[in-house]
Amino acid sequence: MKIIEKQKEFSIMQLIDRYNNDERQNKLNLTVGVYTDQSGCCPILDSVREAEYYRAKNQISKATFSLTGASEYHEAVRNVLFPSMREYGIHHNIQVVQTLGASGALHLVSRLIKYNSPTARIWISTPTWENHPALLSDHSHNFGFYRYQPANQEELCLDSVLEDLHSASPGDFVLLQACCHNPTGMDPDLSQWNRLADFCAERRLIPLFDFAYQGFAHSIEQDAALFDIFRDRLDKFLICSSFSKNMGIYGERTGALTFVFRDEKELKDWINISKELIRSSYSTPPIHGSFIVSHIINDPIRFTNWQQELTGISKDLQRRRTMFFSELTKAGIIDRVLPYRKQNGMFLCLDLSQEKINSLRENHGIYFLNSGRISIASLSISNMPRFCEALKDVV
Ligand code: LMR
Repeated sequence: MKIIEKQKEFSIMQLIDRYNNDERQNKLNLTVGVYTDQSGCCPILDSVREAEYYRAKNQISKATFSLTGASEYHEAVRNVLFPSMREYGIHHNIQVVQTLGASGALHLVSRLIKYNSPTARIWISTPTWENHPALLSDHSHNFGFYRYQPANQEELCLDSVLEDLHSASPGDFVLLQACCHNPTGMDPDLSQWNRLADFCAERRLIPLFDFAYQGFAHSIEQDAALFDIFRDRLDKFLICSSFSKNMGIYGERTGALTFVFRDEKELKDWINISKELIRSSYSTPPIHGSFIVSHIINDPIRFTNWQQELTGISKDLQRRRTMFFSELTKAGIIDRVLPYRKQNGMFLCLDLSQEKINSLRENHGIYFLNSGRISIASLSISNMPRFCEALKDVV
């Protein structure tokens, strides 16, 4: 329980409240991982607007009686998670359940684990997204932790991950972030994913993926490539995914829990229990976001248009990161604040003491997490020099 209490202190949501109550004109909010354009707005993508327009004109009913979501939505999720299977249509051992964002999927998994394997531990990285322990704590608070740290400026130290996971027992679950690790931005490369998949297979550990940033590291297809590796080696694994970030539909709470199981009977059991848990908590999932997603992904032209928009956003993030690095270099502090340089996605972690983070908040009105995590997706180019000046001041 302690870990949850500790993480609640100055959590993302609390910091947003504090930021909103701060009356300074030049305050800066770098807390949350949602893409904002240079004017500070989280834009609605054209492909999403078109889907909504189509929906408004053609929808004839808002009724829904499916516990796990529409089959079109399941197809869309499978197509983005396993793009290589798109042409073949082999989906027999993959089943999708619609959830309320990836958070809803993690929470559902936690309850499923409690039901199916009550003694199993869930292994999570340190550091990790602040909400992971709380979302997963339904399964009994039985956590293990593995270190997630850089080996050098360019590479994750996989040895310390594996060293810590040596203490895991067969049947334990390992929470892995498939790309754009939150909060560090540090991802395993494909050869490291291969080693991890071998390790999990050998020790009969069950990978549990959090996949909230698909498309932000490389592309929709490339970011999902690791699942083919795991599919070849593992009897089962689970993926908690979301369209909140890559379609900019955070408020529609549109995610999925995908089961990749070799054993059909076991898969069926997990799906049946999922249905019971869903029925007894929120009954049925919402339909608006899932319509947007399937309308876009299941049509090749709309899918291409969306990918182009997403590529634009992801390039913008890369550009911001490069500019931020060069501002830090100009200020002469890059080596003092940035231990790791090869990041993906929306986040990076600055190496700053709590005192310095507090000083940035109090004296400069700059808000980011106590872990040192900043969201580059909220840092506009025009704000960079000011942010670097403030950093230089506290460093
Ligand atoms: C984040 O880590 O900032 C995002 O995942 C948003 C959230 O809900 O915390």
